[in-house]
Amino acid sequence: MITVKSEDEIDLMREPNAIVRDCLKFVGERIRAGMTTKEVDTMVYDFVKASGAEPSCLGYYGYPASACVSVNEEVVHGIPGDRVLRDGDIVSVDLCAYKNGFHGDGARTFCIGEVSEDKKKLVRVTEECFFKAIEGLKAGTPLYDIGYKVQQHAEGNGFSVIRSYTGHGIGREMHEDPSVPNFGRKGTGVRLRSNTVLCIEPMIAMGGYRVRVLDDDWTAVTLDGKCAAHYENTVVIRPDGVEILTL
Ligand code: MF3
Ligand code: CO
Repeated sequence: MITVKSEDEIDLMREPNAIVRDCLKFVGERIRAGMTTKEVDTMVYDFVKASGAEPSCLGYYGYPASACVSVNEEVVHGIPGDRVLRDGDIVSVDLCAYKNGFHGDGARTFCIGEVSEDKKKLVRVTEECFFKAIEGLKAGTPLYDIGYKVQQHAEGNGFSVIRSYTGHGIGREMHEDPSVPNFGRKGTGVRLRSNTVLCIEPMIAMGGYRVRVLDDDWTAVTLDGKCAAHYENTVVIRPDGVEILTL
């Protein structure tokens, strides 16, 4: 069931989402070659805790870290560890913060040092997919128009859309209805109501869209080993557009 939030609930959601926003900016200013993904996770943990919030991913279905740090061919849910970031890598950092009884959720893909033109394009197009998706998005928009727009932009640029992971509703739970696929047919799906809060998160691959999960039971990698990127914001559907809580 898709719940809509009251204005008071949305006000409570501002803080955890602002913490996610600020944490992603903080990480973006510090992430660099030579760091391990575990060090990135520690930055996230410390930042979220210092902000008076809880890193919601930690312990979520047994997830062992505060952030998902996914490098190159890793699509999402990369478990931070000993992998060392190298010049030319692209790294997605995805994190959730819990405060005031609500979750915030966002992700960015960062370029480490000198990155190839095709990887740069992938990162840029993935980000653009989010902004295409929210163009014209407002109360009354059919849900799958979001995925339609992401898919049009990604495939129009020669990339593919990851199918097996989606965006989602968010609120008192990290994952609420509806599921928000990044592909779909225009004009289909439920019409979104005002004050619905969604995480819109294009996951875009340079090669094929098929993924497999590593033996750690979390890390999703592309089957063909080509790079993928991820970009996510939490948004509120409004009568005349969207309000982005993590920007
Ligand atoms: N932030 C992720 C999302 O967008 C959640 C990752 S799953 C977790 O849905 F286990 F790491 F929390
Ligand atoms: Co999310």
